[in-house]
Amino acid sequence: MLLERLSTAFGPPGQEDEVREILRQEITPHVDKIWTDALGNLLAEKRGSVQGAPRVLLAAHMDEVALMVTHIDKNGYLRFRTMGGIDQRVLVSKLVLVGPQKVPGVIGSKAIHLLTPEEREKAFHLRDLYIDIGAGTREEAEALVSIGDGVVFNSSFCHLGDGRVRGKALDDRVGCSALVEILQRRYPVTLVAAFTVQEEVGLRGGRVVAFGEEIDLALVLEATTAFDVPDSKPHETVTCLGQGPALTIMDSTLIADPNLLTILRETALEQGIPYQLRRTGGGGTDGGAIHLTEGGVPTAVLAVPCRYLHSPASVIELNDYRHLVDLTDAFLAKFMERRTKLG
Ligand code: CO
Repeated sequence: MLLERLSTAFGPPGQEDEVREILRQEITPHVDKIWTDALGNLLAEKRGSVQGAPRVLLAAHMDEVALMVTHIDKNGYLRFRTMGGIDQRVLVSKLVLVGPQKVPGVIGSKAIHLLTPEEREKAFHLRDLYIDIGAGTREEAEALVSIGDGVVFNSSFCHLGDGRVRGKALDDRVGCSALVEILQRRYPVTLVAAFTVQEEVGLRGGRVVAFGEEIDLALVLEATTAFDVPDSKPHETVTCLGQGPALTIMDSTLIADPNLLTILRETALEQGIPYQLRRTGGGGTDGGAIHLTEGGVPTAVLAVPCRYLHSPASVIELNDYRHLVDLTDAFLAKFMERRTKLG
């Protein structure tokens, strides 16, 4: 399963090489042109079947939230910082892989026997944590890893219950996998695919992908928070697993183009594809960067609801993923007839 290979691939911000290589191999047979830009974004073009048809940018980010090695001490322990939004309280005792060679390690801290009663009441802070890769000296550690190496969670990918999967980096490898599926088909419109870098550290790759490409509209394929868990209140759920892809109305970086949103909703209704609206305004995606490129790009975001986002183990429902692909597919197939709605 492509999603499993993408989920387990190593892709901290700025170190997306393994993910990019998997995607390059997957899409090369299906596109007319493929290139990598100066920031490392993987781009591809697939010409539409209609001459002069609109050019649609489809974007998904390759990077994942991660850690970065900042110091190697004389006893071979690694200190680190976070790359992107990681809750430092989830870090203690987690299994990790360090650097492109994927050196296994564990995030260590003072054991419970050594903590004072006050310390037991508090979460560990980043400064209390270190990565242990089994090295006894700085030299031993330096033979395996370097300062600047990215660090990702060492999580297995597995099926949960009936039709759900658990894995790391589903944000946004689900979007990458969906975009690969879309590129296997040809549409009346021309597709410009962008697998972006450095989204998790501030939508950086996404800022440049629409430049010079004469993009008429953009769809961002993402994973978004599902908070349908014990004790969450109905107005806090954001999205729920199993209710279809979530369409963003507004987040911290983007107000989705209302006409695109209407076309997406009409397409879903007509095709009988379930969807939900993303409820609450926080967070952001590459859409925030893309819609402000050049003279502005009408942009919408479709996202697979995902529990425990940015943690070592996120959970999605495969039907939501399937329906995201179906809705994107139907939107692209029908866009020419519906485009009169665009102002
Ligand atoms: Co994301």
